[in-house]
Amino acid sequence: MLKLPGLIDPHVHLREPGATHKEDFDSGTSAALAGGFTIVLTMPNTKPPIFDSETLDLALTAASKKARCDYAQFVGAGPNNADKAASIADKAAGLKMYLDSTFGELRLDDMSLWQAHFEKYPKNYPIVAHSESRSMAAAILFAAIYDRPVHIAHISLKEEVLVIKAAKEHGIKVTCEVCPHHLFLTKDDIPDISHGNAGRDEVRPRLATKEDVDALWTNLNVIDCFATDHAPHTIEEKDSDNPPPGFPGLETALPLLLNAVSESRLTISDLIEKMYTNPKKIFNLPDQPETWVEVDENSVYEIKAVDQFTRCNWTPFEGWKVKGKVCKVVLRGVTAFEDGKILVEKGFGRNVRG
Ligand code: NCD
Ligand code: ZN
Repeated sequence: MLKLPGLIDPHVHLREPGATHKEDFDSGTSAALAGGFTIVLTMPNTKPPIFDSETLDLALTAASKKARCDYAQFVGAGPNNADKAASIADKAAGLKMYLDSTFGELRLDDMSLWQAHFEKYPKNYPIVAHSESRSMAAAILFAAIYDRPVHIAHISLKEEVLVIKAAKEHGIKVTCEVCPHHLFLTKDDIPDISHGNAGRDEVRPRLATKEDVDALWTNLNVIDCFATDHAPHTIEEKDSDNPPPGFPGLETALPLLLNAVSESRLTISDLIEKMYTNPKKIFNLPDQPETWVEVDENSVYEIKAVDQFTRCNWTPFEGWKVKGKVCKVVLRGVTAFEDGKILVEKGFGRNVRG
């Protein structure tokens, strides 16, 4: 039995408020505990999006009643909320900026709209950018201009990891995360994920080439964090004519990464650095006393959607055999998960910015 610290997932979509048929703070934080995570940082692209004090309260009220692990909620950067977002920074996980995708009220068409946020958001809290390829380079330029940290969400391409490496060597305050699905899947896996249903493989950023995936593994030392980008959509939605992008990931990340440790593709200390030490530092998170995760490094089992707590009812890793199982999670002195069962009530989770 191996003991790890309570892990931190800095990129999770829990769909509350607005789409609780996909996930809510109850099902999502249960999935987090089952996956070995004791803190999740939740994304603001909900309905309504979280972008000011009132909408932040909506999410935090739901979380305080329903979360079973600890959490903090991101506030989203919109075209008109730079002052409002900055004024609630100490209550939020950080500021999330969507620099290429469109998200209703969180749409930022013009770089002058980015400037207000970079000028105003306090430097001791992170700005996280969803920015792919060349917009990622623009986000890094903003980190340099405003001399403040920027965390790049879910990198997936060789060109991205190489530009981040160069920016870090230049002393620019940029950090980044990679998702397990971009480390363990390529475009070539799409037929296996789809099972004849074209929408299941839809995810942003898209699955990349083997050359991209190999470059992420080769440059693992450039990558600060592993993050799931847990983005649950129901299997019916994924198999519909208009499939939304996103993969669930909370319950598969640690088993997949432990399996990679068993294959000597990374070490336990890499895993602790990228799932605890670095996210704790980058997101300025508090200690969780008497908190740990027990894993059985030698337990071999098959990943199955039916065993998961997420409400979305599917996984792109269905049927994968992994070596490494989460056995027990102790959170603030209380056994929160053991032998496949959640043992803490709704509302046990605390806001780490509370
Ligand atoms: C995200 C979601 O479903 O909220 N989906 C995804 O594929 N990562 C939104 C997004 O980042 O595009
Ligand atoms: Zn996301």
